[in-house]
Amino acid sequence: MIATTLAEPDDFEAWRAEARRLVERGVSPDAAGWHEDTADLFAAPAAAPVSVDRAREVRASRAFMNLARSAVLHSDPARLGLLYRVLWRLQEHPRLLDDAADRDVAALERLARQVRRDIHKMRAFVRFRTMPLEDGPLENGPLEDGGERFVAWFEPDHRIERANAAFFVNRFASQQWSILTPRLSLHWDGAALLEGPPATRADAPAEDATEELWLGYYRSIFNPARLKIGMMVREMPRRYWKNLPEARAIPELVAGAQQREAAMIATGTDLFAAETPPASLSAVAEGIARCRRCAIGCNGTRAVVGEGPASAGLMIIGEQPGDTEEREGRPFVGPAGQLLDAALATAGVDRARAYVTNAVKHFKFAPRGKRRLHQAPTAGEIDMCRWWLDAERALVRPRVILALGASSARGLLGRTPAIGRERGQAIALPDGGTIWLTAHPSYLLRLDGEAREREHGRFAQDLAGLARLLGESA
Ligand code: URA
Repeated sequence: MIATTLAEPDDFEAWRAEARRLVERGVSPDAAGWHEDTADLFAAPAAAPVSVDRAREVRASRAFMNLARSAVLHSDPARLGLLYRVLWRLQEHPRLLDDAADRDVAALERLARQVRRDIHKMRAFVRFRTMPLEDGPLENGPLEDGGERFVAWFEPDHRIERANAAFFVNRFASQQWSILTPRLSLHWDGAALLEGPPATRADAPAEDATEELWLGYYRSIFNPARLKIGMMVREMPRRYWKNLPEARAIPELVAGAQQREAAMIATGTDLFAAETPPASLSAVAEGIARCRRCAIGCNGTRAVVGEGPASAGLMIIGEQPGDTEEREGRPFVGPAGQLLDAALATAGVDRARAYVTNAVKHFKFAPRGKRRLHQAPTAGEIDMCRWWLDAERALVRPRVILALGASSARGLLGRTPAIGRERGQAIALPDGGTIWLTAHPSYLLRLDGEAREREHGRFAQDLAGLARLLGESA
């Protein structure tokens, strides 16, 4: 057995040099023992220089090196042997990493993934507090020119402190800070990064004035309508909470969330209560683009606002933008829009003279690979977006509104009508306007055979009725 000891367990370059030397000498994984010297990190000598005998060429793909660079930081002591085994096998099977079912490959991928996640969590959850130098444990750290230092306590799962140091140096280059961990401390004095000994939680300040700022910030961005407890705990695992000032607000916000969401959905308008309706269609468009009052508004898609003459006699209202509409930023320009355009033209209704919009202004979808599959908005989401539809109606003041499908009608009436019973007849609105209700063109696109024939016919009849109504009300 050839035993190799890494002086620094996170030293990838030392592992790489030793591993290369062993492969070159033909030492099989069973004959190679890997150890790490964690006894006294600061007393450890630098890794010994390795003399490399180039008798046998060592092959390692870039993909392996990237995986290995992360995996070597894992706290599992078995990782060094695993890494060496994969490197050894790669010499005979250069495409080994393509075999995701291979146990060694899967184990290596898992280690690397856990390390990357830990790196990400450290970046997200390090919280600095201010501390006057003389109060702290930093007399062993670099000298300061007086004043304050930002100090954070963090407990990583893996040996990621050094690998993450450059991130914090770049992010907080002009401040003086320390990150204390159970394994080592990192100190940045504005010019150089120094390492110090392990610390304890008590070495870092427990609270400071930024506490309230964090709490306030977290309360302000917390959206009860988006609360998914499982997802929140996955993103912000409980073990980090004790060091996060904002975590104090979580129980209170979670407890109130259901009630707040119910109130939001029940009233539909309470989130708008303090707002004055926009005075122009461009103000409506700006407001919609910024609106995050429901989960659809928060899904990162582009808002699609209405288009057409500001004083159109006809308003056409669909359900919500689809995939094409979201990409192009315009309503009814995809397949449903083409069907609608053709049917309107046959009925003699000029779309260019209509104001076209939707009951919901963002695209709700479920991702399926690269595709985005339409999902119907809930009644609560339609009701929430109604404030914007009302604002558009108040500004355009159409005489006739063509409502396409049940969601559209709900956005107007505040109830979901049965299309089959109420279509093709004038429904009076309190503001003097008239609704003309028909099926949604997307529904027609989903039909085949006889049903398709029949429903296209009914749709054409409804639009012919709309044309008559427009003629009468002109
Ligand atoms: N479906 C709708 O309801 N609206 C659009 O804008 C497009 C498809």
